[in-house]
Amino acid sequence: MALSIKTQSPGRINIIGEHTDYNDGYVLPAAIDKATVVHLKKNGNPSECSMIALNIGEVAYFDLNNIKPVESGWQNYMMGVVHELQKIGAKFTGFDCEFGGNVPIGSGMSSSASLECSLAFALNELFELGFDKWQLIRAAQMAEHNFVGIKCGIMDQFASMMGKKNQVILLDCRSLEYEYFPLDLGDYQLLLLNTNVSHSLGDSEYNNRRTECEKGVAIIKEKHPNIKNLRDVTLPMLSEFNGVMPAVTFKRCYHVVSENQRVLEATEAMKAGNHQLLGELVYQSHFSLQNDYEVSCPELDFLVQLTLDKDYIIGSRMMGGGFGGCTISIIKKEMVGIFKTYASKAYKERFNKDLTPYTVSIEDGAKVL
Ligand code: GLA
Repeated sequence: MALSIKTQSPGRINIIGEHTDYNDGYVLPAAIDKATVVHLKKNGNPSECSMIALNIGEVAYFDLNNIKPVESGWQNYMMGVVHELQKIGAKFTGFDCEFGGNVPIGSGMSSSASLECSLAFALNELFELGFDKWQLIRAAQMAEHNFVGIKCGIMDQFASMMGKKNQVILLDCRSLEYEYFPLDLGDYQLLLLNTNVSHSLGDSEYNNRRTECEKGVAIIKEKHPNIKNLRDVTLPMLSEFNGVMPAVTFKRCYHVVSENQRVLEATEAMKAGNHQLLGELVYQSHFSLQNDYEVSCPELDFLVQLTLDKDYIIGSRMMGGGFGGCTISIIKKEMVGIFKTYASKAYKERFNKDLTPYTVSIEDGAKVL
């Protein structure tokens, strides 16, 4: 039996399909070349554990028999995963865990899922728990719900665990069926621009959005009792409620229903090599997130706006939960350098902040190192 193990699990991008996962909808993510590495060692103690966050030089301790969330902090991601695995039957003995990585925090690339998944994967291997990847994905997601307090969907943990080199993944968050297909953008490539802002209202607004969607479903259900959630709602069905349900609820639902449709159209466009159409859908996604779902922020809107008159950029939008983090753009390969310089200067002038551009590659999900 091994005494130690090292694993890594990546962050993710999402081509399109934002705030659809917790509505049983579709998403189109991929794992990237930025990851969290976890080094786990059995320490011989029956229940005492330590955790070291290498990037920030912090240490924390907990006891396996008494795991409770702390007020806030990175410990919750770790303890949450351990606790959720215990709930489904995992038996541990004391361990020491060091972790670190290069997924930028608060960037919308899901550093949190990459940490949760890397740890869940490592625990499963080291303690020979025998869970399958779906059980690990769920435990990581539930850690976020119950310890971190964000009622997230399944996209981030799924992508981090199941990513495949050079492939994007169409995931149906209801049936959990998924399909890999190659990310082939021809003369174009993806470019992420990190605003380096992360507006703190993000977490509570995330849960509020989820509640708004549930509210919309309850109203629609009165007339259409067969629907389970927004996944079952079509645009014509939703339009019956324009002016009937509260305007804000209507807008939230409109985003989700239209975004689901866009994911499917974007998937077809990608498979057919229709990059222009893909780009248009990506722009539509942004404007829907900005105006209807209202999870964008001035910094993200500014960066998307900058791309609109550039014929070498065919699509751009905010990525992830919102209120900060990155935009993702589809840009002509040879123009990346020029645009990075231009956007960084414009961003600095407007917000007096630095912009961080990333060109990411698509990589495998969680693995043992
Ligand atoms: C966060 C959540 C995901 C998803 C996105 C928005 O990243 O963790 O589950 O809801 O926001 O698409």
